[in-house]
Amino acid sequence: MDSESIRNAYRRYARLYDKVFGTIMAPGRHAAVERINRRGGLRVLEVGVGTGLSLPDYRKDIRVVGIDLSTDMLRIAQKRVRDERLDNVEGLLEMDAGKLAFEDGSFDLVVAMYVMTVVPDPQGTMAELQRVCKPGGDILIVNHFAETRPGIRRTVERQLAPLSKTLGWRPDFTLDSLLAGSEVEVAALEQVPPFGLFSVLNCRNTAPARQAAQ
Ligand SMILES: C[S@@+](CC[C@H](N)C(=O)[O-])C[C@H]1O[C@@H](n2cnc3c(N)ncnc32)[C@H](O)[C@@H]1O
Repeated sequence: MDSESIRNAYRRYARLYDKVFGTIMAPGRHAAVERINRRGGLRVLEVGVGTGLSLPDYRKDIRVVGIDLSTDMLRIAQKRVRDERLDNVEGLLEMDAGKLAFEDGSFDLVVAMYVMTVVPDPQGTMAELQRVCKPGGDILIVNHFAETRPGIRRTVERQLAPLSKTLGWRPDFTLDSLLAGSEVEVAALEQVPPFGLFSVLNCRNTAPARQAAQ
């Protein structure tokens, strides 16, 4: 989907989003934020922060910046930050994950939960996540990666495919296609409920520090 179609889709889903996707996708969010919380004092970028369901879970010494393409999703996240007084959330900004308005190496860690299959160019987006992440920093991706082997998991995935498509997800998205050409090493890959359908991928940014422009 292009950016305008994504904005339109999430304009329609914003008010229902937490009810429909809050609980079912909570294990992936919790597993990712738990990993982040094991390390204190980080500055984290959450890409595709949506309605900010994960924001209350971060340790309060972790500073978080969230970005999203959808004004309607961000509005709900902003209300959550105000209502729950989440002072460690530095900002929630409308921005395209494919063109991040941050300097190279601005964040210790970059996380994208249930976003990479929605963006039109996952590899280009991965390169952007890597650019704004410090060399040696972590990039966490929570996503569904398509099962290529036959079995119950592949059957369940195929049954859920129509629902996935209405949200702009690609049910046939593979881990290899995401990582092709990126300078990361996989530090951990954890499957999470429901049915191990989603994974928490923890990558380390192995790209060297970029030289400042002359
Ligand atoms: C399935 S929701 C996930 C929201 C949240 N991360 C969660 O765990 O519930 C996908 C989010 O990605 C956002 N999104 C899609 N494409 C984007 C892009 N190119 N740049 C920034 N955000 C994007 C959507 O607006 C939506 O809020």
